[in-house]
Amino acid sequence: MEDRSNDAASFGSQTNALFRKNLTYQKRRACANFCLISFPVILCLLFALLQGVFRHAKKQAAVPCGCTCANDNGDGKCEKPCNWEQWVKDSGNGCPVYRLPQWPPLLQVPANRYRAVRTESDSFMDLPDKSCRLKGSCPVTVLFTGSNQTLGEIVARNMFTNSIVLDRSNLSDVVANTVLGSDIEFEVGKRIDPAFLSVSPLYNVQYQCSPDSRLAVSVPIPQSGSAFEQEARCVQALNLWRNTSTAINEELFKGYAEGMSKGYINKILAAYDLQNSNRKIFNATIWYNPAATMRVARSVNLASNAYLQFLKGPAAKMVFEFVKEMPRAAGNASMDDDLVGALGPMFFAWVILQLFPVVLTSLVYEKQQKLRIMMKMHGLGDGPYWLISYAYFLAISTLYMLVFVIFGASVGLKTFRLNNYAIQIVFYFLYINLQISFGFLLAALFSNVKKATVVSTICVFGTGLVGAFVFNVLIEDSSIPNKWKILMELYPGFSLYRGLYELKQYTYIGGMQWKDLNDSDNGMKVVWLIMVLEWIVVIVVAYTLDQIQSSGSGSPLLLLQKLWKKPLSSREPSVQTQGSKELENADKPDVCKEREQVEQLLVQPSIGHAIICDDLKKVYPGMDGNPEKLAVKGLSLAIPQGECFGMLGPNGAGKTSFISMMIGLSKPTSGAAYVQGLDLRTQMNRIHTKIGVCPQHDLLWETLTGREHLLFYGRLKKLKGSALKRAVEESLKSVNLFHGGVADKKVKAYSGGMKRRLSVAISLIGDPKVVYMDEPSTGLDPASRSSLWNILKQAKKDRAIILTTHSMEEAEHLCDRLGIFVDGSLQCIGNPNELKSRYGGSFIFTMTTSVDDEQGVVSIVQGLSPNAERTYHMAGTQKFEMPKHEVRIADVFNAVEDAKSRFTVFAWGLSDTTLEDVFIKVASGA
Ligand SMILES: *[C@@H]1O[C@H](CO)[C@@H](O)[C@H](O)[C@H]1NC(C)=O
Ligand SMILES: *[C@@H]1O[C@H](CO)[C@@H](O)[C@H](O)[C@H]1NC(C)=O
Ligand SMILES: *[C@@H]1O[C@H](CO)[C@@H](O)[C@H](O)[C@H]1NC(C)=O
Ligand SMILES: *[C@@H]1O[C@H](CO)[C@@H](O)[C@H](O)[C@H]1NC(C)=O
Repeated sequence: MEDRSNDAASFGSQTNALFRKNLTYQKRRACANFCLISFPVILCLLFALLQGVFRHAKKQAAVPCGCTCANDNGDGKCEKPCNWEQWVKDSGNGCPVYRLPQWPPLLQVPANRYRAVRTESDSFMDLPDKSCRLKGSCPVTVLFTGSNQTLGEIVARNMFTNSIVLDRSNLSDVVANTVLGSDIEFEVGKRIDPAFLSVSPLYNVQYQCSPDSRLAVSVPIPQSGSAFEQEARCVQALNLWRNTSTAINEELFKGYAEGMSKGYINKILAAYDLQNSNRKIFNATIWYNPAATMRVARSVNLASNAYLQFLKGPAAKMVFEFVKEMPRAAGNASMDDDLVGALGPMFFAWVILQLFPVVLTSLVYEKQQKLRIMMKMHGLGDGPYWLISYAYFLAISTLYMLVFVIFGASVGLKTFRLNNYAIQIVFYFLYINLQISFGFLLAALFSNVKKATVVSTICVFGTGLVGAFVFNVLIEDSSIPNKWKILMELYPGFSLYRGLYELKQYTYIGGMQWKDLNDSDNGMKVVWLIMVLEWIVVIVVAYTLDQIQSSGSGSPLLLLQKLWKKPLSSREPSVQTQGSKELENADKPDVCKEREQVEQLLVQPSIGHAIICDDLKKVYPGMDGNPEKLAVKGLSLAIPQGECFGMLGPNGAGKTSFISMMIGLSKPTSGAAYVQGLDLRTQMNRIHTKIGVCPQHDLLWETLTGREHLLFYGRLKKLKGSALKRAVEESLKSVNLFHGGVADKKVKAYSGGMKRRLSVAISLIGDPKVVYMDEPSTGLDPASRSSLWNILKQAKKDRAIILTTHSMEEAEHLCDRLGIFVDGSLQCIGNPNELKSRYGGSFIFTMTTSVDDEQGVVSIVQGLSPNAERTYHMAGTQKFEMPKHEVRIADVFNAVEDAKSRFTVFAWGLSDTTLEDVFIKVASGA
């Protein structure tokens, strides 16, 4: 551990490097960041605008209050008369109402189709026949009971009248001598009893009705002294005696069965239990229709009046003329005006949740583009990466929330304005931390930005909707135990929703203050607790998951799959390869020798070898029914310091699999490897600080310049101050990116070749001891390629380089040793000349003549070398391979001179075998 500080840049300097790089990167993205932060501003402005329009429209539509009481002389009397229509409008518009009308007291009468009639299923035989429903003449039933039936029947009889002659012009007379009712439900909060606005008539309850007994009832109009007429239709009252109050209860209970669909309207008008009433005591229980508690007063008055008449005779009367509400102040219409308030927590939740996709996609992007792994390969630890990323998200989220709160408060959103700011800050701060850590957690599950975007966006909107339409109902339902609510709040979106809901609720009573957190039904405290605990748990889980992943096991799902299948997959291939390896290597002495050397090096370690691979294997598990794929089948290799080792091989031979194991992108299935004496399996983090990688595809930030890239990676490799500056400049010069300001152009303006050169420069900066280059010269023009070769030649002096390439020229030019890799294993290994002589111990002789002279050429060649082989033959052109030990070059020239004298030779040539020939031979032979 103690020498760790020597090879890796310290936590601080890694953090510094990443911080500086990200700062520049985010500066370039200033526009995007600004847009993100100003998103709430735009939303708030939009809503302020909408609300303005809405209020304006409402104001336009509103009729000015016509009945306002001028009340100039201060005697409390309003002089201004007001007509009925104006009064109704005023009441609807939330105008102050000084004089409320005196409504005649009404009974809640069941509508004709709901009145009690005889049915087969019940035992109440004294009810009317149901044929009355068709005629519309069903009586309304009133039930009685009490300890003295004689008294009860007298009182009941006194309740209603037979038809009597009324003085219709005398309102008091009408009201005093009739019992009026309505079947319209009275709604609490309505400014006018709807019975008087409705077209359906009132009822006049009597014991007998003449066929068309109708009555016009005048209703007084406030502030004017006049009245308007409403028709009242006669309905017959039916008094029924029941033996016990239990019987009444039962009948009333059954009375709902039919009317169920209409809510809580009973078939029975009312019921009275006179109990122990006698001449001295009036003791009555009244069952009233719950549809209209406002209309209970009339039922009470009926009973009292009837009892009074029982005592004093019909002349005595307890007249109940009017009911009258208190005057009303101007209505509070702000609820309707507050559009955002109407949208409520859902709107706020959406705006805040909007940050989640930003966090998630940004993390997944770095993963998908392999930028994270690129940084890691160059020595960036996970700690600094997390710290800087987290700090960035926290900063941007904090700004976002600040802007939202400040702007929201300034356009008048009550949630922001009224609640204690400290409480809001704690709440939002906790939430954004939780949200960011969730982003890290989910980022481990995604590897594709598009998928992450889609899923997180669905989450955002889904959470808002489910919160508003399901969770909200749960919160408000006090019968649901708290534990279920808390369980739902474990989902961060709902804990956010709950918090916003509480904030909104408290705006109705002036905003939440610290002392309100103590309220028993305030969920805020629990939400905070959940958030804090969850934040800690999520951070730990996310970090662990990230560690598992970056150790090369792929996605967590794959890891599980692997653990599950391990016993099976590790057995089979080992049996199969073990047996065949001896056979395979029998005719490859060079490969065997390399293996022996590796074995010896493992026993006696030497510092001179930068890379030692011991029987390295990589097996990709079978997917979708395909058999598993052996990408690397037991590779043993030792590469000394100062050597450039070239890996040749056809596509799909396993070169890239090998390199990705060596740079820690994937884990070897079995075998071991040591880089500078560090074990690949356990010390990958330290290995990362010693290697440089030039990946096959350029992994660069489009918006950073070449110089910034090199500065960043240089800092990761512990370069500082002037040394860093010098190294970067030298590096830029060496890859020819220094002149003409190229170094300070953004990478997106670079051509493919320039990007490639920058990648090479990155892999070499900071003097790594081992460098992997995956096809570094692909796509370079000849001039750049030759300059690249010069750089590599310089570079290989004091380090080991592993190079894969498809260019034989490059391999021959740069590599000290070559290995040809076919089908997952090395076919041969050695320096280029060795290989050429081993695999190509022949000259290639080509001659073109006319077709007629072909036979002559063949005989000449056979004269030169009896074992020559014709490898190509087409329209007079023939190609022969002649073993070197059989021919002398001088003889060949002589033979050609001789041939020229006998027939026409169009062209001829003699060449040594090239590496390309060797490659083709080995690749096709394997
Ligand atoms: C029942 O009431 C009537 C009328 O007041 C009275 O005459 C009678 O005595 C009462 N009966 C009993 C048992 O109290
Ligand atoms: C009610 O009481 C009367 C007289 O006591 C009796 O005749 C009648 O059967 C009783 N009704 C019921 C339903 O119990
Ligand atoms: C009224 O009736 C109830 C039930 O019968 C009884 O408990 C109560 O004492 C009575 N009240 C009076 C004042 O008699
Ligand atoms: C909250 O309630 C607890 C116990 O009910 C009490 O001790 C405490 O003083 C209260 N705090 C505030 C700020 O009201």
